[in-house]
Amino acid sequence: MKKLLEEIKGASLAAVENAADLGALESIRINYLGKKGSLTAVLKQMGSLSAEERPLIGQLANDIRSKIEEAITQKAAELSEKLLEMRIISEKLDVTIPGTPVTIGKKHPMSIVLDEAIDIFTGMGFAVAEGPEVEFADYVFTKLNTAEGHPAREWQDTFYFTEDSSVLLRTQTSPVQVHVMETQKPPIRIISPGRVYRKDEVDATHSPMFHQIEGLVVDKGITMGDLKGTLNTLVQRLYGPDTKTRFRPHHFPFTEPSCEVDVQCFECRGEGCRVCKGEGWIELLGAGMVHPKVLEGCGIDTEVYSGFAFGVGLERMTMRRFKISDMRLLYENDIRFLSQF
Ligand code: DAH
Repeated sequence: MKKLLEEIKGASLAAVENAADLGALESIRINYLGKKGSLTAVLKQMGSLSAEERPLIGQLANDIRSKIEEAITQKAAELSEKLLEMRIISEKLDVTIPGTPVTIGKKHPMSIVLDEAIDIFTGMGFAVAEGPEVEFADYVFTKLNTAEGHPAREWQDTFYFTEDSSVLLRTQTSPVQVHVMETQKPPIRIISPGRVYRKDEVDATHSPMFHQIEGLVVDKGITMGDLKGTLNTLVQRLYGPDTKTRFRPHHFPFTEPSCEVDVQCFECRGEGCRVCKGEGWIELLGAGMVHPKVLEGCGIDTEVYSGFAFGVGLERMTMRRFKISDMRLLYENDIRFLSQF
């Protein structure tokens, strides 16, 4: 019987060693150790042994059983590991390969400058107002003291919707001044950013659509000094504390007196260079004291109130701020350009 047990041991261990997969291993376990397995069969014949032999054979059978079990457990671990390796190879998913990078967008340079400007003005007590891009000529021109026959009302300058020239794409944000004054009582302190349209050919400094920020302050005792202080604050916050400004007399129908505001050239500091075309100064915006006719047209008592207004091109502001020389770059949506800001 001992010999039989040794044979079972040899055969079973060899079978375990050669098992190709977990299924084969399980049949080996059943064949040898199961209820009808060969080792179990031998053990069932123990009754025929002598009293001396029984414990020895019993001991041997138990040893062989645990050897086989141990071999099966070890082989099963080996096979599972191999199985995993094969799965990894066959599924070809390499989690260590870097993924496709997700590019995160950035604020457009004009949005950066607009947000800065809104921050500066709200810090001075201004609110942000909005107005329509499709406007009545009354608001774009007439109520802004720009009568019929003014060159700005010509068809070749302006996008009209109607034959009678009563509705158009606004050419300036100034009509928002009128909307605000018609609906709010002084004190008024607003800025109004938005798109405007003109029949301009596209070049490095022109586009048929561009952006302005309008400003309006109406209160008791407002003077040109308030205008200068406000615009100097804007310019110095945007371009640096030692930026110099120059207020030049000009004409706008809706302000009296009117001025244009230049900033000292950031490139040459006023010496005169290519950027400022030898001037030393760069024009930035138009402004003035709101014309009494405009105030009165909106029902504001000019004996009590006065006001100032200004309009600045956002493209121009942005180009100065980031030293961009061609306006078209702002509209092309070229990631290589936009990602620099
Ligand atoms: N609307 C003017 C333009 O488009 C700019 C401007 C000038 C706005 C003077 C104003 C102002 O409010 O007071 O050229």
